[in-house]
Amino acid sequence: MVKKFFITGSAGFIGFSLAKTLLDSGQHVHGYDCISDYYDVNLKNARNKILKGYDNFSFTKDMLENQEVLNEAITSFKPEVIIHLGAQAGVRYSIEKPRVYLSSNITGTFNIIELAHKVNVAHLLIASSSSVYGANTNIPFRETDKTQTQLSVYAATKKSTESIAHSYSNIWKLPITMLRFFTVYGPWGRPDMALFKFTKSIIKGEPIDIYNKGEMYRDFTYIDDIIKSIIALTSVPPKNKKNIDKNDSLSPVAPFRIVNIGNSNQVKLLDFVEALESYLKKKAIRNYMPMQEGDVPVTWASTDLLKKLTGYAPKTDIKDGIKKFVDWYTEYYKIN
Ligand SMILES: NC(=O)c1ccc[n+]([C@@H]2O[C@H](COP(=O)([O-])OP(=O)(O)OC[C@H]3O[C@@H](n4cnc5c(N)ncnc54)[C@H](O)[C@@H]3O)[C@@H](O)[C@H]2O)c1
Repeated sequence: MVKKFFITGSAGFIGFSLAKTLLDSGQHVHGYDCISDYYDVNLKNARNKILKGYDNFSFTKDMLENQEVLNEAITSFKPEVIIHLGAQAGVRYSIEKPRVYLSSNITGTFNIIELAHKVNVAHLLIASSSSVYGANTNIPFRETDKTQTQLSVYAATKKSTESIAHSYSNIWKLPITMLRFFTVYGPWGRPDMALFKFTKSIIKGEPIDIYNKGEMYRDFTYIDDIIKSIIALTSVPPKNKKNIDKNDSLSPVAPFRIVNIGNSNQVKLLDFVEALESYLKKKAIRNYMPMQEGDVPVTWASTDLLKKLTGYAPKTDIKDGIKKFVDWYTEYYKIN
C-alpha cells in the first residue's frame, strides 16, 4: 500500500538511505533537513540530489527549530507516518558544543511530536541511541533495562526525547516508537565516524586514533539492516495492552515503545581495524589513545524485541559490511 512518509534528516546518512529505499518501492516521501555543516555539506548535497531525482520525493530545507516552516511542511504533506531522524549527532562534539544538542535534539524533537499530534499520524518513529544505556554494565542491553546514567550531553538529549515522547503518547494516545540505533555503518556513511575516518587515513597513510588502546567493543550495525528494521517497525505501531510481555518495553499507560536496532554481536575495535586493513591490503599506523570522555567501552544490543515484533533481525557480517563501505568510498572519492 502506498503511504506518505515524512522523514527528517533526509540528507543525513540514515535518512537518505531510508528515503531512497521507500522511494524505490513507490512510496511518497517528503524530506526535511537544514543540511547543517557539522560534516561535509557536499556529501549531504550529493545524497539530496539523488533523492530529488525521484518524482515521488519533495523536500524542505530548514531547521527543525523553525516552527512555522516545519508546520507548513507537515500540514500540507499530511503524512501517515513520520520518521524523525534529524538531529545533532556525535558523542564527542557534544562536549565542545552542548547547546546545539539542546536546540536540535530537544526543541527540534518537541516540534515534531507536537505536529505529529496535530496531523494525527498513524505512527511516529523517533531516532534514539544506544548511548542512552550510558554506564550500564549488564549486557546485552535490553529495552526494559533502567537507563539513568548517560555519559554525554548527546546521550542525555536522546534520553530526554524518550521522556517527552512518552508524555505526549500518554496524554494524546499518539503511537510512538523510539529507535535505539547501535553504531550504524555502511555506504554513504558519516565522515565523523570510525569506519569513514579509518578508511580515509589508512588510504592516505596517516595515523588513526584508537581509543582505550583498542579495548572497546561495539555492536556495529549495517545500514541496510537498519533500514529493513525501521521499515518493518513502521507497520507495528504500539497499542495499549493490558497484559504486557515482561520483555516488551511497551508502556503500561501509553501506545509507546522503545526498540533496539543492533546486530546483537560485539566486535572488538582492534578486530574491526584488522578487517579493514585486510580488505584495503594496507596496514594502519596506530596511534593508541586513552578512553575518550563521554564514551562507553562496550555496546551490545539484545534484538529479541525487534525479532518478536517484526520477525527480522540484522545479520550482516562485519567483514561484508566493511567491504561494501570501502567499495562505495573508493568509487565515490574516485580512488584506485
Ligand atoms: N549513525 C549512527 O551510528 C547513529 C547511532 C545512534 C543514533 N543515531 C541517530 O540517528 C539519527 C540519524 O543519524 P545519522 O547517522 O543519519 O546522522 P546525520 O548527521 O548523517 O543526519 C542527521 C541529519 O539531520 C540534519 N539536522 C541536524 N540538525 C538539524 C536541525 N536542527 N534542523 C534540521 N535538520 C537538522 C543534518 O543536516 C543531517 O543531515 C540521529 O538522530 C542520530 O542521533 C545514529
